[in-house]
Amino acid sequence: MKLVIFSAKPYDKLYLGGVLKSRSDITSVELVFHEFSLSQDTVSLAHDADAICVFVNDTLDTPVIEALHSAGVRAILLRCAGFNNVDLKTAEKLGIFVANVPSYSPEAVAEFAVALIQTLNRKTHHAFNRVRERNFSLDGLLGRTLHGKTIGVIGTGKIGLAFARIMKGFGCRLLAFDPYPTDAFKPYGEYADLDTLLPQCDFVSLHCPLMESTRHIINEKSLAKMKQGAMLVNTSRGGLIDTKTVIAALKSRHLGGLALDVYDGEGALFYNDHSGDIIQDDELMRLTTFPNVLICGHQAFFTEEALTEIANCTLQNLEDFRRKVPCKNSLVREGHLLVKRESLPVRTV
Ligand SMILES: NC(=O)c1ccc[n+]([C@@H]2O[C@H](COP(=O)([O-])OP(=O)(O)OC[C@H]3O[C@@H](n4cnc5c(N)ncnc54)[C@H](O)[C@@H]3O)[C@@H](O)[C@H]2O)c1
Repeated sequence: MKLVIFSAKPYDKLYLGGVLKSRSDITSVELVFHEFSLSQDTVSLAHDADAICVFVNDTLDTPVIEALHSAGVRAILLRCAGFNNVDLKTAEKLGIFVANVPSYSPEAVAEFAVALIQTLNRKTHHAFNRVRERNFSLDGLLGRTLHGKTIGVIGTGKIGLAFARIMKGFGCRLLAFDPYPTDAFKPYGEYADLDTLLPQCDFVSLHCPLMESTRHIINEKSLAKMKQGAMLVNTSRGGLIDTKTVIAALKSRHLGGLALDVYDGEGALFYNDHSGDIIQDDELMRLTTFPNVLICGHQAFFTEEALTEIANCTLQNLEDFRRKVPCKNSLVREGHLLVKRESLPVRTV
């Protein structure tokens, strides 16, 4: 069985190749790596593949999925949790198997969200640069003690819960919003609707998936409801935030800080070196000019443990497909979508 891997980086080769070698139960799988991301321009690279493997910024809209189907591809393996970039309805209609890696070290992402909060809040990134220039002044580095602050958690799934656990350990008060509340959050805090939660929180962290119902959940109205000077953290998906309005809220100083691991237009930039390019995304470039904005290139998942788990789960999903046995991570099955949420995810950029 030939598996063509798109958007492949050296670490994908290392972990997928390494895990395949270590799994004596998975045989006759050939891995072919392409650095290119999947799009209409590159879909021909899948021409003799049985299955393809993609990541967060590959495009799997209707034309691409139809082209994959015509090329004989029968399985799409997502080596990530989010599937907002896949037109599941088209895949299901064409009988293409789609599976994701629903959980790979949720703690990895949660810990990164906390790292962003602490960096943004205590300004350690500015301190690092200053000390390299032998500037030991503390002016401008004033932060806030997290103990006793109120933290808003939007989405209490696997990552939101892991995040809540850590913030509770800091001595924070937690409020959460999720249309599907869970008892698992009870030890950490209380649920509230967004209108109640936003005005009370000193920090708000986004952990819900990108869907029609959550696109721009952070917009002019919700930003206005946030407490003056509150900080916003997004390690989930860029499309949750309306970038224009967040820039306006930063300019007016209503929003006290912004930390992003994900960005709405990241597909054109993230995971590649553009240091010699003229970046055309003016909103992203504007964001980089604020002293209280911190941007990372979608790396919250990026730990050894998570990459091992992603590789293992992806290859197990392929093996389940090959053996025609039920796959617990399948997102579609013939004639029936398996996604349970109230609305299907939408494609980003
Ligand atoms: N930055 C990264 O590297 C990285 C890595 C993995 C996942 N993610 C993102 O994190 C998201 C969360 O992952 P997870 O594993 O916790 O998913 P999950 O499915 O376990 O949890 C998502 C939660 O969001 C809730 N939700 C749905 N609609 C909502 C709404 N309108 N408002 C608030 N909550 C809502 C769901 O009920 C669920 O409890 C993923 O969708 C993905 O986009 C990012």
